[in-house]
Amino acid sequence: MSEELWTRVDDYLVSLLAPSDAALDATLGDSSAAGLPEINVAPNQGKLLELLARVRGAKRILEIGTLGGYSTIWLARSLPADGGLISLELEPHHADVARANINRAGLGAMVEIRVGPAVETLRGLIAEGAAPFDFIFIDADKEGYPAYFALSLELSRPGTVIVADNVVRNGAVVDSTSSDERVLGVRRFLELVAGEPRVEGTAVQTVGSKGYDGFALIYVKE
Ligand code: SAH
Ligand code: DHB
Ligand code: MG
Repeated sequence: MSEELWTRVDDYLVSLLAPSDAALDATLGDSSAAGLPEINVAPNQGKLLELLARVRGAKRILEIGTLGGYSTIWLARSLPADGGLISLELEPHHADVARANINRAGLGAMVEIRVGPAVETLRGLIAEGAAPFDFIFIDADKEGYPAYFALSLELSRPGTVIVADNVVRNGAVVDSTSSDERVLGVRRFLELVAGEPRVEGTAVQTVGSKGYDGFALIYVKE
């Protein structure tokens, strides 16, 4: 079993069930041309995010880690006309590319990108008394996942769904002796989820065009 086969299967599934369109193609094309790393979610993962947010009936979505706005577009497409999405991004250049991509996708009125270190922006949202979010997608620096989870809980309500990307990283997550801060961050995050009585969570391994990784799905009970 190889990444080449995973990619062929993804190509098949994506062409049937998560086909691209002009806005998504242009988003990836312009992101690449602008020098952004190609670490966006795969199309079928993007559609999974859209469907999870739809199943949740989300009207307010929070994303941590915008990059070029590819996952942002999938998530925002789940929203009703009066819905909104706030996406947090450290790099001003990424945010500029994402804004152009999101505007071209016709979603500019629903999406706000806040630039800065996500921990600070999240604290700002809490301080300004932001209404709770229905769906939260954590996908920024992996070192930050423990803090993003703790702060996300403060921006949640009973019923909020939290999804976190990249929790397996080629299996590195099982290396308890790792000195990689990203691995340690993801492990600490999973331990926080496991020990947090206000949530129920799970994590699932995935293979596909983006390699071998996985995601966590968390339900906020109270
Ligand atoms: N969700 C995107 C991919 C995000 S990649 C998609 O699937 O399309 C991770 C992003 O997080 C990068 O753009 C990176 O600049 C950003 N990031 C890294 N550290 C951050 C921090 N401390 N605060 C906010 N964003 C951060
Ligand atoms: C990386 C980050 C991601 O969010 C991702 O999906 C893949 C890779 C990274 O930082 O390498
Ligand atoms: Mg990711």
